[in-house]
Amino acid sequence: MKSPITVAVTGAAGQIGYSLLFRIASGSMFGPDQPVALRLIEIEPALPTLNGVVMELDDCAFPLLHSITPTADLNEGFSGVNWALLVGSVPRKAGMERKDLLSINGKIFTGQGQAIEKNAASDVRVVVVGNPCNTNCLIAKSNAPGIPSERWFAMTRLDENRAKSQLAAKAGVHNTAVTNLTIWGNHSATQYPDFTNAKINGKSVTDVISDQAWLEGEFISTVQQRGAAIIKARGSSSAASAANAVVDTVKSLTTPTPAGDWTSVAVWSDGSYGVEKDLITSFPIRTTDGTSWEIVQDLPVNEFSQSRIDATINELKEERDAVKELGLI
Ligand code: NAI
Repeated sequence: MKSPITVAVTGAAGQIGYSLLFRIASGSMFGPDQPVALRLIEIEPALPTLNGVVMELDDCAFPLLHSITPTADLNEGFSGVNWALLVGSVPRKAGMERKDLLSINGKIFTGQGQAIEKNAASDVRVVVVGNPCNTNCLIAKSNAPGIPSERWFAMTRLDENRAKSQLAAKAGVHNTAVTNLTIWGNHSATQYPDFTNAKINGKSVTDVISDQAWLEGEFISTVQQRGAAIIKARGSSSAASAANAVVDTVKSLTTPTPAGDWTSVAVWSDGSYGVEKDLITSFPIRTTDGTSWEIVQDLPVNEFSQSRIDATINELKEERDAVKELGLI
């Protein structure tokens, strides 16, 4: 039996947690022969609810689930963790300005960054899901300077999956036919799902879908607004699909990327594609060994794409400036 991978999940009693934990424990994330130890981190008032989730995990008798540690103590929660999945955050409420949201969540992510640096395993990798995830990731990373830059990720995989599904439906093909889909920039309504470099059955999307107006208009806005559409339909935000995207993100970072393809993850910008260094930006990413990764270089960026990328990067800069002003980074 392999030794367990230790995974911390914050916000474990929340909606995403309720889908995610069972996927991790069942082997969907790390494979069918890899045991996992779960550290479930919540705020004190949510511990009774978390206890119910732990009871349900127990009741699944998962063969791969080595141990469960529910806690509100960050030092205990992040102790020795190989993966930290930062899902918990405070949602935007009516009347709350974006700046208020950055400030409230910023404080959460400064403390978590510091606790991860102090307690996690030396190979820790961190995926930030809680919104605004790119900037929360920047805050946590800035508060954990000892952890290498390439270990920090913010999730844009749900956007990638949504974009693939929309393109597949329009082309009348299965979603597995859609590859090479980049989400550029911020996980927000400014993100740019790049159809210009995407492929359907190996052919350029623009060769398969001739409706350019749809690609430049409805396709992009549907992907950008999908979260809001789900809230409207379901009465609460996407959770099972978000949890699925967390599983996909970790799987894609731990297994070699299929030849010629890539995936979307927000990572520390090294200046690629003219994006200002240090911003946590979604790029096309690939890995050959399931540990190290690289930003796919030299993709063509036409004028239309550049204007969309500029818009989302500008938003990231504004968020960065706001949290800098608040003294969070
Ligand atoms: P939720 O409100 O159901 O759960 C959040 C949980 O976080 C709650 O149980 C809460 O007690 C906990 N929490 C709050 N502060 C905490 C702290 N300091 N430490 C630990 N736990 C804390 O929300 P849900 O639906 O699970 O979503 C979680 C986050 O994921 C939200 O910020 C949401 O906007 C974001 N999200 C991100 C997506 C992405 O693609 N990046 C997609 C969907 C959601």
